[in-house]
Amino acid sequence: MGNLNNFASCISINTAHPLPVYRQIYLRLKEAIIAGNLKPGERLPSMRVLASDLGLARGTVENAYAMLIGEGYLESHGQSGTRVSSHLSSSHTLPVIANSLPVTEKEPSMPHVSDFSHQPLQLGLPALDEFPLTLWNRLAGKHIRQFPRTNLAQPPAAGYRPLREAIARYLQISRGITCQPRQIFICGGYGSVLRLILDTLYRHGDKVWLEDPCYLTARKIFTHVGAQIVPIDIDNEGMQVEQAIQRQSDARFALVTPAHHSPTGVTLSLPRRLALLKWATDNQSWIIEDDYDGEFRYQGRPQPALKSLDATGRVLYAGTFSKVLFPALRTAYLAVPESQIEQFEQRVCISPCASQVQIQATIADFIDQSHFYRHLKNMRTLYARRRGFLIQAISENLSHLKHLKIETHFGGMHLILHLESHVDDRQITALARSHGLAVEALSEWCIDNHRLTGLLLGFTNISSLAHAKQQINKLSKLIQA
Ligand SMILES: Cc1ncc(COP(=O)(O)O)c(C=O)c1O
Repeated sequence: MGNLNNFASCISINTAHPLPVYRQIYLRLKEAIIAGNLKPGERLPSMRVLASDLGLARGTVENAYAMLIGEGYLESHGQSGTRVSSHLSSSHTLPVIANSLPVTEKEPSMPHVSDFSHQPLQLGLPALDEFPLTLWNRLAGKHIRQFPRTNLAQPPAAGYRPLREAIARYLQISRGITCQPRQIFICGGYGSVLRLILDTLYRHGDKVWLEDPCYLTARKIFTHVGAQIVPIDIDNEGMQVEQAIQRQSDARFALVTPAHHSPTGVTLSLPRRLALLKWATDNQSWIIEDDYDGEFRYQGRPQPALKSLDATGRVLYAGTFSKVLFPALRTAYLAVPESQIEQFEQRVCISPCASQVQIQATIADFIDQSHFYRHLKNMRTLYARRRGFLIQAISENLSHLKHLKIETHFGGMHLILHLESHVDDRQITALARSHGLAVEALSEWCIDNHRLTGLLLGFTNISSLAHAKQQINKLSKLIQA
């Protein structure tokens, strides 16, 4: 950074980043000092000049300089400007900054910390406008108002018993899975399901087959524990099990989304399901089935879960209420094989992970009083219609674009617009996001697969054909731009 003329170009500022700009400048300068790129005694550009070079208000730079002066990284020399503190001799070992901005991210970028807001075309969000909220509030209100004294002690570590019973019944009826309530463990969302599995069964350095592309949260959780990730390609029958066995037959886990692969929507074929189960049985490995949206099929009946074929007890089945009800519940569940009940019970006694009892009780009532089945039926009909709106809007407004092909599987909650491999889906996505469209780039979900590019478009909150056309029109202009 020695040359003052180039100084501003070394400070990259991202105005879309949730961190305020003055803090970004502060962190960048602090990083440069710690890394030794700015030497003790070196002069920094004046606040006025740096603000003008960066196109910012002078006060923004002033705030950053003031923080660094306060912490002793910089010193003010009045008329002769601001310098890196001469007390920081280059022999000092300076601490690494914990919350520095990523320069280049090796891990896939994740959406920013979420809040309640949502935008058109957002992925994986159920139709919030059609959720029976009055009914829900009535059921939930009862559990808040009449909270029994008996429930003031420690809540049940594996989850509220009536909910575990309701889920066991539901899994039997709707997903073809036979299990006892004791096999069901309630968790605070799917991430918490995965962490419970890993806390209980993971051994240092275990290998895991992940579908490529794959749900980012799952990949992050496996990466975090240090698992060796083995990416496995997807074709029109789902995960290529033969390839996986050839690549790493001794993997300890296989994480799959058999109903609709996340995010391509492909259903895992029966021969592949059987091959996967045989491999897990022969190898004593674990299959984690993420059945996040298996209910949403718009032609024929939803396929039974892979777990329904599990005769040898190798499948850990994960379900969530985020798609079939709403994500703010933060409630998911795990069905473990009978042989594993005790291990998992011991684990949740050490670190219980279930959501609040009142929430669990409300979900149990919602299922037991048949509202759940009615809601699912209504949502299937609604999503089929909304999916149709989006497909029609795309074929009318985007079909003239040659580098684009729409993928329409008969399930799930989103569509994919495949792009030719030279088209940068991340660039289009960034542009679309800055214009208020919450599309996602398919390539962001890929591990090693560099051929896939495309846009993921949620249809569940598209309220009408006119609404779909309005969003697609906007997207069309951005793609052409
Ligand atoms: C593939 C996949 N699995 C599971 C989930 C459910 O996650 P959670 O229960 O944490 O909301 C999602 C949510 O987006 C998902 O996309």
